[in-house]
Amino acid sequence: MKPLFAVMPALSFSVVIGFGASTVAMAAGVSFQENTLPSSTSLPNISPTNSALANRGAYVARTADCMACHRDDYSGGVPIETPIGNIYSTNITPSTRYGIGNYTEAYFKKALRKGRAPNHQLYPTMPYPSYHGMTDEDISALFAYFQTVAIVDKPPEKTTHLPFPLNIRSLMLAWNVINVPSTENRSGLTETQQRGEYLVNNLEHCGTCHTPRNLTQGLDKDRYLSGAPLGKWFAPNITPDNDTGIGLWSEMDIVTYLRTGTLNKRAYAGGPMAEAVAHSTRYLTDEDLIAMADYLKVVPAIKTDDYLIPVNVSRLPQPVSNSITYDLLEQKDYLAHAKTNIANSSNNSGLNSNSPKDLYLIHCASCHGVDGYAQPDARYASIVGLSSIRRVKPDALIGVIAFGAKGAFNTAPKMPGFSKDLSPRQIASITNHVRVTFGGLPSSDVSAADVTRVIKEKS
Ligand code: HEC
Ligand code: HEC
Ligand code: HEC
Repeated sequence: MKPLFAVMPALSFSVVIGFGASTVAMAAGVSFQENTLPSSTSLPNISPTNSALANRGAYVARTADCMACHRDDYSGGVPIETPIGNIYSTNITPSTRYGIGNYTEAYFKKALRKGRAPNHQLYPTMPYPSYHGMTDEDISALFAYFQTVAIVDKPPEKTTHLPFPLNIRSLMLAWNVINVPSTENRSGLTETQQRGEYLVNNLEHCGTCHTPRNLTQGLDKDRYLSGAPLGKWFAPNITPDNDTGIGLWSEMDIVTYLRTGTLNKRAYAGGPMAEAVAHSTRYLTDEDLIAMADYLKVVPAIKTDDYLIPVNVSRLPQPVSNSITYDLLEQKDYLAHAKTNIANSSNNSGLNSNSPKDLYLIHCASCHGVDGYAQPDARYASIVGLSSIRRVKPDALIGVIAFGAKGAFNTAPKMPGFSKDLSPRQIASITNHVRVTFGGLPSSDVSAADVTRVIKEKS
C-alpha cells in the first residue's frame, strides 16, 4: 500500500482525471420510429432458445445500458471522452482471447462492483461506482446472458493509451476509497420508489451524466442529479425543483420522455440522452419507467442558477402547414428571399448585417423547417418550445449550434457544427432568434463574446 499512498498527492492534484461518462461517440446510428412504444417483448436481445435466467439478464443489460459503451455486439472500442483523453471500452463477448470468455461469475461480479478485472483495475468510465449496488440476482442473470452473446474473436479497433502517471491503474484504488459507492439510498421510500432508486442509481446510472463532479471527479452527492456539463453537451437538472429542474413535469411526462425521447413542445432527448433512450430506456417496462418517475419526484429538489424560462405558449409559432409539399414549396420561396437579403446587406455595407431570421432560414430551416417544427419528411427534431433553448444560460444551445448534433433516433444526416462557417456574431444572432422565436422568450441578449467563450470552453 505504501507506494500507492505516496502517489496520492498526484491523484488529488490531477483533478484532471475526469471519468465522467462523457459524450459517447457511437459509430452506428440506430433507426428509431418516433412515437412507437416498443414493448418489453420486442427486446431484440431476447431469444426463446435461451434460458429464462439469460433472458432476464438481457433485460438487465438494457436497464444498465451496457451497449451504449460496448457497442451493439459488445465488441468494444468505443471512445469515451474524458478530460484526460479518450478511454476505450473493451470486448465483453465470451471470446476467451479478446473478451471475457475466461471470466468466472465471481470475476464478473468484481468487475461490475469494484472495477477489478482479473489482471488490472478498470477506470471508472466503466460505471462500477454505480453498478456497485447491483444485486446478486441481477449479476447472475447478466452473467448467464453474456454466455449467450455471439463471440467476436477480435480485439477492439482502438485501445486506451494514457500518458504516465494516468496509466497507473492502481491509482484507482485510492480513488475508489473516496468515491465508491457513488450514491446513497434514501429512507422512507415506497417499494415502487425503491425499485426506481435502484434503477436510477445502480442500473441506469443516470447520475454519471446528471450529477456534478467533486474535486476528484467523483459524483458530488450534495448536488445529486442537479445538472452537469458533459463534453459539448449539458445534462440538465432533473431534480423536482420547479424553476430549474423538472418539478413541473408529471410522472407521465417523465415516462413519455424516457420511452420516446420527446415531450411535445417541452423537451427533446438529443446527444448523449438520445443514446440512453435509444439503447436503454425505451425498452424498459411500463412498471420500471413509472418506478423511476415516481422516485425522481421524491429526490431532494435542488435549485441551481440555471433557470428555465417557462413556455409562453401564445408566443410559440404555429406550424406553417402539415403538408409536406406545401412546406417544401414555401421553403423555396423563403430561402430565395433570405439569400437575396443577405447578398444585398453585405453588398451595401460591407459589414455583416444579416438579419437573424435570414441566417436561420439559410442555415437551419432545411432541417428544422421554416417554422421550427422540422421537415416533416426527414423526422428531424422539432425545436419549438424545447427546454434546452429556454435556459437562462444559453451555453447548451450555443454548443449545439457551434458543434452540431448527431441523431440517434433517425438516420437522416447529422447536424453540422457552425463554429467554422459562421462568425461568433452570426451564431449569437441565430441563438437569440431561436430562443425568442421558437422558445417563446420575451428577449435574448446572447453576445458574440458569449459564443467565443463557450466555443473556447468546449473545444
Ligand atoms: C459508460 C460506459 C460504460 C458502460 C455503460 C458499461 N461499460 Fe463496461 N467498460 C467501459 C470501459 C471504458 C471499459 C474499459 C475500462 C478500462 O480499460 O479500464 C469497460 C470494461 C468492462 C469490463 C472489463 C473487461 C476487461 O477485462 O477489460 C467488463 C467485464 C465490463 N466492462 C462489463 C460491462 C457490463 C456487463 C456493462 C453493463 C452492465 C457495462 N460494462 C457497461 C465502459 C462502460
Ligand atoms: C450519457 C449521459 C446521460 C445519461 C446516462 C442520462 N442522461 Fe438524461 N440527459 C442527458 C443530456 C445531455 C440531456 C439533454 C438533452 C438535450 O437537451 O437534448 C438529458 C436530458 C434529460 C431530461 C430532460 C430534462 C429537460 O429539462 O429537458 C431528463 C428528464 C433526463 N435526461 C432524465 C434522465 C434519466 C432518468 C436518466 C437515467 C435513466 C438519464 N437521464 C440518463 C444525458 C444523460
Ligand atoms: C443537416 C440537418 C441540420 C441542420 C442544417 C441543422 N440541424 Fe439542428 N439538429 C439536427 C439533428 C439531426 C438534431 C437532433 C440531434 C439528435 O437527434 O440527437 C438537431 C438538433 C437541434 C436542436 C436540439 C438540441 C437538443 O436540445 O437536443 C437545436 C436547438 C437545433 N438543432 C438548432 C439548430 C440551428 C439553430 C441550426 C442552424 C444554425 C440547425 N439546428 C441546423 C439537424 C440539423
